[in-house]
Amino acid sequence: MTDSELVRLALEARRAAYAPYSGFLVGAALLCRDGSVYTGCNIESASYTPTCCAERVAFFKAVSEGKRAFEAIAVMGAHRNAAEPGYAYPCGVCRQVMMEFCDPGSFRILTARTEKEYTVFTLRELLPMAFGPAELCGSPVD
Ligand code: THU
Repeated sequence: MTDSELVRLALEARRAAYAPYSGFLVGAALLCRDGSVYTGCNIESASYTPTCCAERVAFFKAVSEGKRAFEAIAVMGAHRNAAEPGYAYPCGVCRQVMMEFCDPGSFRILTARTEKEYTVFTLRELLPMAFGPAELCGSPVD
């Protein structure tokens, strides 16, 4: 799976976004170390708080299917009317969920504007000086 293939899957996943309140549609594609991919889209709620970001939907789908080892996630988010999408970065809550399951130095976050235009960061770059499982357990949890 190349980076641009993962980005394309995030763009496709965005088509299922349920965001009638914000109009901000997000898709994500999470690449597991075994090569499998789990996608997600944001799902909003009329009572707002239960809203879940695309990235967390992808992570929770994967973890609930027994996956624990991850390589990269591609994300594409933009308002449904955006003529020229910008780069949408994962929110702080999603970064913290990534910190639970991913190695911050090697897990990569691809943020895409289009299939061909995307930027790449490590989790450590987007969540420096993070609090994570190692603080509580001494090492990543199995
Ligand atoms: N959203 C995501 O899906 N991922 C992010 O990283 C940022 C925000 C969603 C949540 C909500 O449905 C909409 O974008 C506006 O915040």
